[in-house]
Amino acid sequence: MTIKRVGIVGSGIMGAGIAEVAAKAGCEVVLRSRKHESADAMVAGLAKSLTKQVEKGRLDDAERTAVLDRVDAVTDLAALAECDLVLESVVEDLPAKLALFAELDGICGDDAILATNTSTLSVAAIAGATKRPDKVCGIHFFNPAPVMSVVEVVRAERSSDATIAAARAFAESCGKDVVDVRDQAGFIVNALLFPYLNDAVKLLASGAATRDDIDTAMKGGCNFPMGPLELLDLVGLDTSLSIIEALHAASGEDADTPAPMLAALVAEGKLGRKSGAGFYDYSRK
Ligand code: 3HC
Repeated sequence: MTIKRVGIVGSGIMGAGIAEVAAKAGCEVVLRSRKHESADAMVAGLAKSLTKQVEKGRLDDAERTAVLDRVDAVTDLAALAECDLVLESVVEDLPAKLALFAELDGICGDDAILATNTSTLSVAAIAGATKRPDKVCGIHFFNPAPVMSVVEVVRAERSSDATIAAARAFAESCGKDVVDVRDQAGFIVNALLFPYLNDAVKLLASGAATRDDIDTAMKGGCNFPMGPLELLDLVGLDTSLSIIEALHAASGEDADTPAPMLAALVAEGKLGRKSGAGFYDYSRK
């Protein structure tokens, strides 16, 4: 099946980034946010991002207008009824995703694919909330979605070959390289990345090195584009904590226990760039 109309549920950093990628790929995009203000803010953010690309000479004005015309922001989930694919990117909370998928199952056409952008939750469990588990899979973009070149396509126990093929074709049409992975905590990237990020916070808390030296060391010593503490701020400390908790729950290993400093920052409301402060202060940027 060819994906022409894509619904995106969730107005966070990932939802906004995926909406930009899909609209630029030529899909009609229906962005669903619970509040009018967040839906409008997403479209404003998209317009700003496209304007930057026009300023850099990477997009012309007519393309910018055409991309924006393909995006519709809505608050009513029922507006996703005609979508070929609905990609969910709401909070990493299983009960919230189960309720959403059960609702989408009742709203969307029988042939529609329902995909999750979850980082760590079981895609099979999410699929179990629907009567179409064969049409459910994971399509996992990375942050920032317009820039990162890979997408993980996650095959859950009952995902059909046709669903996986359509998900792959969609991600490829968005200009992404696709990797296949089975349904296990953290898939490929997060299973390898987040134990390292968690350890970086433990290293900082131990007093072994400063924040800046940890980030400088990993950039210069490993040629990583960002240090681990900067990257945690980019991903969001709340999202990162929930990923690390899920990996810990899956492994049961003491070494995977979330760093208490990370949990403390989240409890203080320091969530990284999006809240203005995390390991770094963004209030003046
Ligand atoms: N949205 C759109 N475009 C963006 C962007 C954003 N949020 N941030 C940066 N860009 C673009 C810039 O416009 C620029 O484009 P151009 O080269 O075409 O002009 C390009 O990306 C490079 O940006 P900058 O020159 O400003 O900055 P850097 O060279 O420092 O790159 C970065 C920024 C791309 C974020 C880079 O530091 C990087 O790759 N960092 C690592 C990110 C990473 O590891 N992400 C994975 C996180 S884990 C995850 O997502 C899992 C999930 O489940 C939570």
